[in-house]
Amino acid sequence: MTTDTNRDVSTVETDAPPDSRLEEVLDGLRRPDRRISSKYHYDERGSELFERITTLEEYYPTRVERALLEHRMPGWIADLCPATLVELGAGSAEKSRVLLDAMVRSGCGRAYVPVDVSADFLAATAAALREEYPGLVVMPEVADITEPLDLPSELPHPRWIAFLGSTLGNFEPHEATSLLTRVAGRLRSDDHFLLGVDLRPGRVKTVERIEQAYDDAAGVTAEFSLNILRVLNDEFGSDFDPTGFRHRSGYDVEAGRIETFLVSIRDQTVTFPGGHVFDIAEGEAIRSEISSKYDRPTIDGLFTDAGLAVDRWIEDEDGFYALVLGRPTR
Ligand code: TRP
Repeated sequence: MTTDTNRDVSTVETDAPPDSRLEEVLDGLRRPDRRISSKYHYDERGSELFERITTLEEYYPTRVERALLEHRMPGWIADLCPATLVELGAGSAEKSRVLLDAMVRSGCGRAYVPVDVSADFLAATAAALREEYPGLVVMPEVADITEPLDLPSELPHPRWIAFLGSTLGNFEPHEATSLLTRVAGRLRSDDHFLLGVDLRPGRVKTVERIEQAYDDAAGVTAEFSLNILRVLNDEFGSDFDPTGFRHRSGYDVEAGRIETFLVSIRDQTVTFPGGHVFDIAEGEAIRSEISSKYDRPTIDGLFTDAGLAVDRWIEDEDGFYALVLGRPTR
């Protein structure tokens, strides 16, 4: 049962500016199927834990995506000669180096704009890249990619906007469509959109393989999942006890996606400042992530709705992962 005592004190608080981030979190927790937005995974610690996930044997997406980037991007980049790379959700920009190397080698690269929600992490990334690529203008943008993105107008064209790591899958379909629509609106006819997506189970790829990627034996994914509660405590002053929850995840075949949950291991009460109290029963689950898996028809549909068209599509021979190059249609 959820008790929201804020309703009793709201008259006292009407002078406070509306805090939409807090409201969004409270709304998610008040739902019968409680949920927390996955963007709260990525404080500095969460970003570091995620980097560790990307090195795990079970977590194939990073490895397969990287191999595809290494094999195919030098050719595509030499072809299309992008001057600017804008990377949404850049993280440590580990994979971006493959693109930046090719851009520099082809003589096309001028500017790199890593965009990420994690400010500390982004600053460190930008500093490292300036050292490594002295000829490149590095302009980090701290931004929530679910919000409109203003790009500095002086960025040279052709521009590529890259969205890798199958992060698109972490959005609900309607959110994915609005994100792609905003990307399409930023593209001129000679610009491109590079998307990395994890694929649905197939001939070689089993559901088990997908599930293991979200529940590794060493427990790094569990730690990463539970960290979201610390992030909420830090930002909003709530009193979640991360040891009172456990990580659970599974593939929903119907929806074509992994869902991860934090399951309460006892009856407990969580309080947010302002008198927002949540009674969470033993066994109750809070959904903390979705990770949608795609196939060609799903991507074609999403792209069409957003004003994009697939120019090029490549996947590894076992059909685990795909890179898609899109262009604007309007
Ligand atoms: N974009 C990543 C993915 O969907 C994020 C991710 C990987 C993740 N492992 C996770 C999110 C575990 C939450 C829990 O694959």
